[in-house]
Amino acid sequence: MTERLVTGEVQPEDLDLSLRPRRLSDFVGQNHIKDTLDIGIRAAKIRQEPLDHTIIYGPPGLGKTTLAHIIAHEMDAEIRVTSGPAIERAGDMAAILTGLQEGDTLFIDEIHRLSRVVEEVLYSAMEDFFLSWMVGKGLAARNINLRINRFTLIGATTRFSMISAPLRDRFGSVFHLEYYQPEDMEIIVRRSAKIIGVEADAQGIKEIAGRSRGTPRIANRLLKRNRDYAVVMADGKIDGPVARAALDQLSVDQLGLDQSDHRLLTSIIDKFDGGPVGLETLAASINEDSDTIMDVWEPYLLQLGFLERTPRGRVATRLAHEYLGRTFAGPDPGAGASDQGRLSGL
Ligand SMILES: Nc1ncnc2c1ncn2[C@@H]1O[C@H](COP(=O)(O)OP(=O)(O)O)[C@@H](O)[C@H]1O
Ligand SMILES: [Mg+2]
Repeated sequence: MTERLVTGEVQPEDLDLSLRPRRLSDFVGQNHIKDTLDIGIRAAKIRQEPLDHTIIYGPPGLGKTTLAHIIAHEMDAEIRVTSGPAIERAGDMAAILTGLQEGDTLFIDEIHRLSRVVEEVLYSAMEDFFLSWMVGKGLAARNINLRINRFTLIGATTRFSMISAPLRDRFGSVFHLEYYQPEDMEIIVRRSAKIIGVEADAQGIKEIAGRSRGTPRIANRLLKRNRDYAVVMADGKIDGPVARAALDQLSVDQLGLDQSDHRLLTSIIDKFDGGPVGLETLAASINEDSDTIMDVWEPYLLQLGFLERTPRGRVATRLAHEYLGRTFAGPDPGAGASDQGRLSGL
C-alpha cells in the first residue's frame, strides 16, 4: 500500500503534540460545534455534572482526537484514551469503566469497531452509570451489577453509519466535523508556522492552505515539508514561489490531489468509461484496500464533486473529466443540476 503525503490518516511524522490546540478558543473553525460545546460545557459545570456523552465524526485529520482532549481539559476532567479495536472482551470494557473516577472523560477512538458484546456493556453504563453483565455459562452463569462513577463518553469515528442504533441513541450530542474552509485553513497554517518557528508570508500560507484538502493534519505535514524545502532551496522563508515549487516537487496539485487521486479517477475514466464501477472492482484495479479508498480517499473527491457514489457504483463526474483533461462523453447519472453549483465553487 502506498504511503501518501496527502492522506488525513496519522503518520509517524505527525506526532507533534505542540501543534495540537489545547483550549476551545485555540481550535480554529467549526464554529457551530465550538459554540454548542461551549454552552454545553459551561452548563454542565454549573450543574456540576459530567458533559453529555458525545460522538464526533468526520474524515481523518479534522480534529476529532483534538476536540476530545479539549473537552476533557475544559471540563477540568481526566481523560482515559482507548479505541474500539483495543477492547476485545466485555470484561476489558467493564474494567475500564469501573476504573473511572467521578467526572472522568472516556475517549473511545474508532468506536464503530467495538464488538457487539463489548458495546452492550456500555449501554447501561452510559444510561444509568450502572454495569450489568453476565459471567459464566449455563447453570454457573450469573449476572453482575455494579454502580460506577459518572463519566462522559466521547466516541470518535470516520464511519457514523457503522455505529449501531442502540449505541448511537445513547449519545446526547453528535458533532459532524466538516472539511475546513480556505480562510480557516490559512489561520491554521499561520498558527502552526508560528509554533514551529518558520517564517511564511501571506502567499506562502495561502498556497499551503489551498493544497491541504481542508484537513489540518495535512496542512501541518505540508508546512513542515515546505520548511525543509525553504531551508535547503531558498533563504528559509516560505513565500508564494517557494511554496509552489515545494508543493509541485511533492506532487501535490492545486486542489491537493496527488498521484493516487489521479490514479483512482483516471482508472474510473479510462478503464471503466467513467463508471459506474463497483468499489471492489475499482479497488482491485488500482491495487488498493477498499476500506481505505472509501474512508480516506473518497470523502475529499466527493466533496470536490469529482466523484459520485451511485447505487450501481462509483462515477467520475464531468468536473473530474474536465480537471483531468478528458472529454466527457456520457450523461452524468445522478449528477444533474448540482454540478453547476460545484463548478462555480471551484
Ligand atoms: N481546528 C483545528 N485548529 C487547529 N489545528 C487543528 C484543528 N483540528 C486539528 N488540528 C491539527 O490537526 C492535527 C490532527 O487532528 P486530530 O484531532 O488528531 O484529527 P483526527 O482525530 O480527526 O484524525 C492535530 O494534531 C492538530 O495539530
Ligand atoms: Mg484521531
